[in-house]
Amino acid sequence: MKDEGIERRIQQETRAQAKQIVAVHHDLHRHPELAFHEDRTARVVAAHLRALGLDVRTGIGGTGVTTTIVGRANGPTVALRADMDALPITEQTALPYCSTVPGAMHACGHDGHTAILIGVAAVLVTLGEALPGSVKLIFQPAEEPVSGAQELCAAGVLSSPEVKAIVALHGWPGLPLGAIDATPGPQMASADTFTITLTGRGGHGAMPHLTVDPIVVGAQVVSALQCIASRAVSPLAPVVVSVTSFQAGEAYNVIPEEAYLRGTVRTLDPALRATIPEHLRRVAEGTAAAYGATAALEYRESCPVMVNDAGVAAAIREAAVPMLGAANVRDDGEPSMGAEDFSLYLERVPGALLRLGLGDTAPLHNPRFDFPDAAIPIGIELLCRVALRLLQ
Ligand code: NI
Repeated sequence: MKDEGIERRIQQETRAQAKQIVAVHHDLHRHPELAFHEDRTARVVAAHLRALGLDVRTGIGGTGVTTTIVGRANGPTVALRADMDALPITEQTALPYCSTVPGAMHACGHDGHTAILIGVAAVLVTLGEALPGSVKLIFQPAEEPVSGAQELCAAGVLSSPEVKAIVALHGWPGLPLGAIDATPGPQMASADTFTITLTGRGGHGAMPHLTVDPIVVGAQVVSALQCIASRAVSPLAPVVVSVTSFQAGEAYNVIPEEAYLRGTVRTLDPALRATIPEHLRRVAEGTAAAYGATAALEYRESCPVMVNDAGVAAAIREAAVPMLGAANVRDDGEPSMGAEDFSLYLERVPGALLRLGLGDTAPLHNPRFDFPDAAIPIGIELLCRVALRLLQ
């Protein structure tokens, strides 16, 4: 079969499947599940894949699901990944398929990603031997705490068969519907976390001179930490140091012994990332010492910088142009200081995360976010074309 023929078939099959997959999306949206608790979601995914006659593996790294669509024998294997988890947010939309679970919502569009990948399976299985290789579909738990990818990589999802390249999509509010972005290079930030324990000497709130007040020290440390980004690192290198929690004391009249600062560090450069713990330690210990207190830093690396491979990003754009038109295929995306654990796969195999335009909807992680129905068939057809392009 000629390429043009197979692309037309992908388009036709996508149109034939669209209504059913939109219904799958609505069903998933009604039943959001938080990280590592995607039991129903995994069951729904597995049931749809099995109904297509596919061999399905479940329970990978917790609730992960994989399947491989085998095309022409001896061809390469590429992987497509969707994330499945929801967020601890109470939905505030008036959608007919609004979340039925108080305190849980698909506010990052992972329900859309999951439905799209089910749709991709439904389209690709119809291609048979015309598919010039195999496509592995990875349904991943727990993207939001950026830990699901770690579990799946450890479980060997990128081997047997060996995956040559991997692609994921993420719905992107603000990018027009019908547009996509596949920009090479660093596109999502590394995300690390830290805890600083400040130890002073507690005492009476009315006699501060007899204490070493860890709250006053903590206030100085929070301010001094802002100088890492503004004075210790080049202004041309993005870095975020955010203190997001400051806990100390319980009474009006007691100066506590200890205070705890917690927060997150984001960078777009692995080399810069490696230097930040030392800055934090110096600022925390030095500031605490100036007031007669001590500081202990606990720093945890969580998620690396997500670097899109230039070759795979180019292949995505080449696959998208005949479908969406050159004007709707972007390669100038602004990096986000948000994190995405898809970076862990990209440390192992070449790949890229593409942004799928969702048009004018509320921002990600907002209680009014909605993944528009119209983006579902675009995502399905696009991922099928991308898989095809990568296999050729
Ligand atoms: Ni997300």
